[in-house]
Amino acid sequence: MARRRVAVLISGRGSNMQALIDAAARPDYPAEIVRVVANVPEAGGLARAAAAGIATETIDHRKFPDRPAFEAALDASLRACDTELVCLAGFMRLLTPGFVEAWRDRMINIHPSLLPKFPGLDTHARALQAGERLAGCTVHFVRPVMDSGPLLVQAEVPVEPGDDEHRLAARVLQAEHRAYPLALALVASGRVQVAGEQALIDGQPGPIRLH
Ligand code: GRF
Repeated sequence: MARRRVAVLISGRGSNMQALIDAAARPDYPAEIVRVVANVPEAGGLARAAAAGIATETIDHRKFPDRPAFEAALDASLRACDTELVCLAGFMRLLTPGFVEAWRDRMINIHPSLLPKFPGLDTHARALQAGERLAGCTVHFVRPVMDSGPLLVQAEVPVEPGDDEHRLAARVLQAEHRAYPLALALVASGRVQVAGEQALIDGQPGPIRLH
């Protein structure tokens, strides 16, 4: 089966990007990472991607007059390498509805909470503050409203006594590195359909839950 061509968008260290690169190194994985794009030159993931032999590009959003101009450059970069699927992996720019709709059901994101709980920033501190017993992460199709969209995979991790946000974040991050490659594999292999804003995975309502 032909492997789907995937671009990964990052803003930071790129550990989820690395998990996708590692998964895609397996010959039976249904996707290949063809390009990594960062919106800031200091994103540490750029060096990791280059070390893995993947083409990288920085499209610095600060060099564009507005969001649509930045996104036009991003879109052109993605299309130049025949991108079929886009993975947001710690990409810290809000995307306009125009860009999101252009990649509808072909762009996925990972978020470090069990959505719909705790969209936005500081998820772990907020989960601890709320007294949650379970934390985790979610991979979902991207929609114009931040951290919303049909859910593909959720991985749950326990909140443990004595956790602070850093300990909890580290535990959730390990789960992220399992959840994201699984979610991308599901989408890339054509096992996901979207019906009524719900992801159907092999015909069953998502998300798949990892424990
Ligand atoms: C992850 O926690 C991800 O869920 C969130 O941003 C963080 C990125 O980490 N969207 P990394 O750059 O993949 O290590």
